[in-house]
Amino acid sequence: MSGRSAVKRVCLAYSGGLDTSVILHWLIQQYGCEVVAYTADVGQQEELAGLPEKARATGAIDCVVRDLREEFVRDFVFPALRGAAVYEGTYLLGTALSRPLIAKDQAEVARETGCDAVAHGATGKGNDQVRFELAFRALAPELAVIAPWREWDLRSRTDCIAYCEKHGIPVTATLKKPYSIDRNLMHVSFEGGVLEDPWRAPDEDMFILSRSPEAGPDRPAELVIGFARGNPVSIDGEGLSPAALLTKLNRIAGEHGVGRVDMVENRFVGLKSRGVYETPGGTVLHAAHRALESITMDRDVMHERDRLSPRFAELIYNGFWFSPEMDFVRAAVDAAQANVTGEVRVKLYKGSAVVTGRRSPHSLYDSDLVTFEDGASEATYDPRDATGFIHLQGLRLRKP
Ligand code: ARG
Repeated sequence: MSGRSAVKRVCLAYSGGLDTSVILHWLIQQYGCEVVAYTADVGQQEELAGLPEKARATGAIDCVVRDLREEFVRDFVFPALRGAAVYEGTYLLGTALSRPLIAKDQAEVARETGCDAVAHGATGKGNDQVRFELAFRALAPELAVIAPWREWDLRSRTDCIAYCEKHGIPVTATLKKPYSIDRNLMHVSFEGGVLEDPWRAPDEDMFILSRSPEAGPDRPAELVIGFARGNPVSIDGEGLSPAALLTKLNRIAGEHGVGRVDMVENRFVGLKSRGVYETPGGTVLHAAHRALESITMDRDVMHERDRLSPRFAELIYNGFWFSPEMDFVRAAVDAAQANVTGEVRVKLYKGSAVVTGRRSPHSLYDSDLVTFEDGASEATYDPRDATGFIHLQGLRLRKP
């Protein structure tokens, strides 16, 4: 392939797993280049200790591990929450939100270490290749992009294991996982393997972050979540950093079986795909955030924002985090968050997260106005005005 010899040093997104170990070795062989391994910690809880040694043993000249957990939650998860971004009404976008951050940081490391190219291990059929590469184009257009899964002739996991054996590449787990897993602080996603049959229910032992709803405690848990300008800031009055807050909420909500989703979604590349997700903390935060908006947000501002939310979700899903249209949508949804400050009480019980209370110093809710009792505020809301209001609304509805 032409152009391969132009690449001198590649920064590879590396997990230490089978695929990226093969890629590391393959890049050196096929491109005759040097490889800098790059690993982002977004809360995937994989073994990071020993990773640099493993990368070097496979041939990398360097291995850079960066902790992105706070940035991930603060600058990606929380903005999506503020904009009520939910893809196809169901998917809270845990994987899609991590990709632009990883790509941004990887491009920075590539520059710092003198690389002229970046490489990733996303396959040729998924959304992630699009997300990584659109971010690279937006942020580091001078870097070449290498996607080995679209170039090489390895087709399967078996091919990869054979490649490792042939070249003496150290890989540990060769036991085939029955599905592809992506984990971070926001969620765990499962797809492929036995889940490709959309009628087949997932096995209970697949789940990582949550108990099954029916196995949840018989006593519900109640939590009070504090928000400031649309961002979660505390649990039961205890101020927590973004990553600490989401970690804690994942644990509690996961215990109660909250946040499982099983869906068939439309990938950007045009395929339908079955995915199963566990997003315990994120599910609670979305419910609580909307409840706080219900008392702090003007009706018509909320309805305008609600029209933008599906578009916001689609831009995240399709990989356009760094784009002019995304800047526009984010500015608009965030303009609606200035007063979203206050507290929400949520009850967690056997898979459900139900809001049982909300309060705010900026509340627009006026019990005097809405009361069924005799209100004292006829100057502002006189029920007699409703007669004319309804009469005019109904004029054109009369059958001739
Ligand atoms: N379908 C999800 C998305 O496109 C998750 C993709 C990655 N998940 C995985 N298990 N490999 O955002």
